[in-house]
Amino acid sequence: MTPPALGILGAGRQGSALAGLAVSAGLDVVLGNSRGPHTLAELVAELGPAARAVTAAEVAATAGIVVVAVPLHALPELPATALAGRTVVDATNYYPGWNGPIAELDAGAVTSSTLVQRRLPGAAVVKAFNTIDSRRLRSLARPPGDPQRSALPVAGDRAPAVDRVVGLHDRLGYDAVVVGGLDESGCIEPGTPAFGAPYRGPEPSDVDRATWFAETPGVAVPAATLRALVGRAPR
Ligand SMILES: NC(=O)c1ccc[n+]([C@@H]2O[C@H](COP(=O)([O-])OP(=O)(O)OC[C@H]3O[C@@H](n4cnc5c(N)ncnc54)[C@H](OP(=O)(O)O)[C@@H]3O)[C@@H](O)[C@H]2O)c1
Repeated sequence: MTPPALGILGAGRQGSALAGLAVSAGLDVVLGNSRGPHTLAELVAELGPAARAVTAAEVAATAGIVVVAVPLHALPELPATALAGRTVVDATNYYPGWNGPIAELDAGAVTSSTLVQRRLPGAAVVKAFNTIDSRRLRSLARPPGDPQRSALPVAGDRAPAVDRVVGLHDRLGYDAVVVGGLDESGCIEPGTPAFGAPYRGPEPSDVDRATWFAETPGVAVPAATLRALVGRAPR
């Protein structure tokens, strides 16, 4: 039987990188954004026949797993009712300068994924794909058993949904390290040791930063290294 399509809400840098990996892995993909499917024609043409653009509500209604790759401030606009019963991958991060201040997050009272789960009460939210930038997400994917395969962290409260998302990682070219529940996902938020920099590797001092960021293929982060990095985060 054909597996249900992977849904992706938000078809910008991170959403389109995930869509590219999914299509390469043989999955069907449905993508949605806020401006409507017609604005995704070019991306869908690049991705090929396994990809379709639909409305955000249709993504939620048709996909088995739905990745949320929108700016965190767009959370109130997501189709919460249609997402009920779905496994929702929260790939978002909180950046006050981009998203605007959110008092609970600034106070460290909750994790950003806890807010996503509150907004989508009928969905099983799993935080994932938030710690690696879109360029390295594409360049570091490797098949199972490859010595250069990287691991990415996953956090979630509901075991079946976490298992599904771990399986998605495997399919897309990554091992997964489960770091705990959504309450504990602060250990993989921006600014923590496992976030971003390890996948880019050491930044040379003698090159233009923007060029290096655009071009460096990144550095493999195996599961054992990732576990050690996560272990260094304050809890
Ligand atoms: N870029 C990265 O390397 C990276 C890495 C890890 C995590 N993330 C996280 O992933 C999320 C997206 O980042 P990005 O860099 O991919 O942003 P981006 O390039 O600006 O893309 C954002 C996407 O979200 C869509 N969107 C906005 N509001 C929406 C809504 N209400 N419903 C459906 N789609 C909506 C936008 O569509 P319209 O243009 O039509 O509004 C656009 O396709 C952020 O939370 C970010 O922190 C990004």
